[in-house]
Amino acid sequence: MSPWRLFAVWLLAEGAWCASELKFPPGFKFGAATSAYQIEGAWNASGKSPSTWDTITHTRPHHIIDQSSGDIACDSYNQWKEDIKIASDLGLDFYRFSISWPRLLPTGFPDAINEDGRRYYDNLINGLLEMGIEPMVTMYHWDLPQRLQNLGGWANPKVVEWFEDYARVLYKLYGDRVKTWITINEPFSMCTLGYAMVAFSAGVTDQDVGTYLCIKNVVMAHSKAWRLYDRDFRNKFGGRVGIANQLFYLKPATKEDEEIASLGHEFFYGLYSHPMYSKEGGWPAGIERVIEQNSKKAGFARSRLPPFTDEEKEIARGAYDFYGFNYYSSRIIRRRGDEEDLLARSPFKNIRELNAILEVDPTWKKSSSFWFYVYPPGMRKLLSWVKDQYGDVEIVITENGYSSTGTELNDIDRIKYYRDHLEQVLLAIHKDKVNITGYTAWSLIDNFEWNEGYSTKFGLYEVNFNDPKRTRTARDSAKYYKNVIKTNDIEIPKSFNIISDEL
Ligand code: BGC
Repeated sequence: MSPWRLFAVWLLAEGAWCASELKFPPGFKFGAATSAYQIEGAWNASGKSPSTWDTITHTRPHHIIDQSSGDIACDSYNQWKEDIKIASDLGLDFYRFSISWPRLLPTGFPDAINEDGRRYYDNLINGLLEMGIEPMVTMYHWDLPQRLQNLGGWANPKVVEWFEDYARVLYKLYGDRVKTWITINEPFSMCTLGYAMVAFSAGVTDQDVGTYLCIKNVVMAHSKAWRLYDRDFRNKFGGRVGIANQLFYLKPATKEDEEIASLGHEFFYGLYSHPMYSKEGGWPAGIERVIEQNSKKAGFARSRLPPFTDEEKEIARGAYDFYGFNYYSSRIIRRRGDEEDLLARSPFKNIRELNAILEVDPTWKKSSSFWFYVYPPGMRKLLSWVKDQYGDVEIVITENGYSSTGTELNDIDRIKYYRDHLEQVLLAIHKDKVNITGYTAWSLIDNFEWNEGYSTKFGLYEVNFNDPKRTRTARDSAKYYKNVIKTNDIEIPKSFNIISDEL
């Protein structure tokens, strides 16, 4: 073969092309996301009952960096028309938002639907559709009715039924207009982080047992909600239902750490994905074995990871229409040295079950969030991980975004983050042939960032939290994203180094 031919073959094989020339395929959709507790405010208005997050922020404010709460947040309960307007200005194909369970069902159960809550989401959905924006609805983004938490929350297997009943109400009320449902947002954050770190799980910490009860219940709650849709609503409404997973890429520190990295991925996301997305169903075998052995060694009579009955396994297997994929950051993983302490409880720093240490590369840029270091190739690697594990499943990127202190409208770091991650998405689509059909920026607007309160901001739009109207102002990243959607070009136009005015 001539050297030129060889070079051409290499180019094709290696995908050594310029990503900026790659385009998103026809039909690819762009959106932006928020969640109820983070934006709505109106925490006790019009019949809403308290959620676990109202309880945390009101009774244990020291868990929030600036001791703030989502009591008012972006006031989207009153300013929702503004949110639709800016979503439309951006040219979004879809807007992902979540429904507050305690706003719609204040008792936690379907015995009493709160009319004001029902109307609020009705208006939001209709308003979006009028502007040609598809509503993508998350049923649960961490704000559990406090009453259900008092009954054990995500550690009580009854939550599977409670969630199914809630899902039925949602399908009945909004299924004629909502065609894309996400059952649960980031079970990794709820269970793996939640039961290890105080705030996420409404104050309950129980890393050894609680985490695994939560994982199994989340898997079954999602799967039953999917089955319900499939059985009773799909024919009528023709929509689809998925779950949104949070993925951190775990980069092996050395060749010897490859095995532990692979177990780390099973631990972080396999537990939440394998039961539904793998051909054989059930827990991923490697990590299931590790947890069983560790449990026995520690003197438990059975594995701390609850098994599936055959019936449960079949309910979960295949219970999906797409894979929701949230990505922000990565870690380096290595086996713990003999002398090293497994210092922190934080799953950002170690995986105790695997005796593994998690670190960051000093060259990775740190955002304004304590856990967030920038490593764009991690995103592509994880997209391939999903494909390797679960075949050609459709992936919708349901979150990706960057945090800053939020003082600047000229947010060039956020623009770079988006550009570099969109590049990885393009490479995954074109080079790795991953079936990705949509991308969601987190977040449409600055909002209450959980334990970090308002100390860190993710918005394409700045929100002025000192202004009672919570005025929204476009950052340059909004301008950039609008341009990507309009032109299908991820490169940053030269003019973007200037302070933005109006979009
Ligand atoms: C969550 C969002 C959160 C974002 C940034 C995701 O884990 O779904 O609620 O604001 O990350 O931390």
